[in-house]
Amino acid sequence: MAIRKIREIGDGTLAKVCKEVTEMTPRIEQLIDDMLDTMYEANGVGLAASQVGILKRIVVIDTTGDEPYVMINPRLLETSGEQTGYEACLSVPGKTGVVTRPNYVKVRALDRDMKPFELEATELLARAICHEVEHLDGHLYVERVEGDLKNVEDVEEE
Ligand code: NI
Repeated sequence: MAIRKIREIGDGTLAKVCKEVTEMTPRIEQLIDDMLDTMYEANGVGLAASQVGILKRIVVIDTTGDEPYVMINPRLLETSGEQTGYEACLSVPGKTGVVTRPNYVKVRALDRDMKPFELEATELLARAICHEVEHLDGHLYVERVEGDLKNVEDVEEE
């Protein structure tokens, strides 16, 4: 278990498309453990492997603080509805901006045993899944921000 360095906006790795994972290996097990540690240490609700410099389709998400999801090769099967709200990213420190996302998603992924599962999610979890899956295709939420990207402390004062 180790904390990995989080790549920040401007780092070319964040703009690359990640590759599918075809088999679980000890290195990938270690990567997943490190991603969870890194996410929790940074008080984040999600982290994609590309954010720690590894171009594999792996994300970890925990919007509640006690229920981490590990999603390998995640794919959105369905989306519906709409939610508009502030979003942030560990790769864009200190910033936040308003993004509209689906309010419901159904995702299919592999768990850390490479077993397929499906998950239905709404609200914050749905938002986090959309945000993290986009990282795997080289996109950051700042590309979708409505209006200006703001400083977190300015928004907290609002
Ligand atoms: Ni992010």
